[in-house]
Amino acid sequence: THVVSDSCIRCKYTDCVDVCPVDCFREGPNMLVIDPDECIDCAVCIPECPVNAIYAEEDLPSDQLHFIKINADLTSAPGWKSITKRKEALPDADEWKDKTNKLSELVR
Ligand code: F3S
Repeated sequence: THVVSDSCIRCKYTDCVDVCPVDCFREGPNMLVIDPDECIDCAVCIPECPVNAIYAEEDLPSDQLHFIKINADLTSAPGWKSITKRKEALPDADEWKDKTNKLSELVR
């Protein structure tokens, strides 16, 4: 599967969803995740993300491995819904795009 990692938090640019052939993105208040049961590992979303948040699971940096479970858990969390069309990024996305270790900011 592919995994959405830390960079997405408080940004949510959503360019990734337009190219997904299997509609496997799920949207929460300030991050998207990928449904690991739906992702077909096509990788077309990777270059679409302006903050390089998406990795193939096997390519995840070692400090991002916890996002495998976060993507899997939030895929089926209450209120997390399928998103298939690009929309406006979060209003202060540009202020957060270069920050790291944003997990404490994640709204589940
Ligand atoms: Fe997030 Fe990047 Fe998609 S910021 S919403 S993974 S384009």
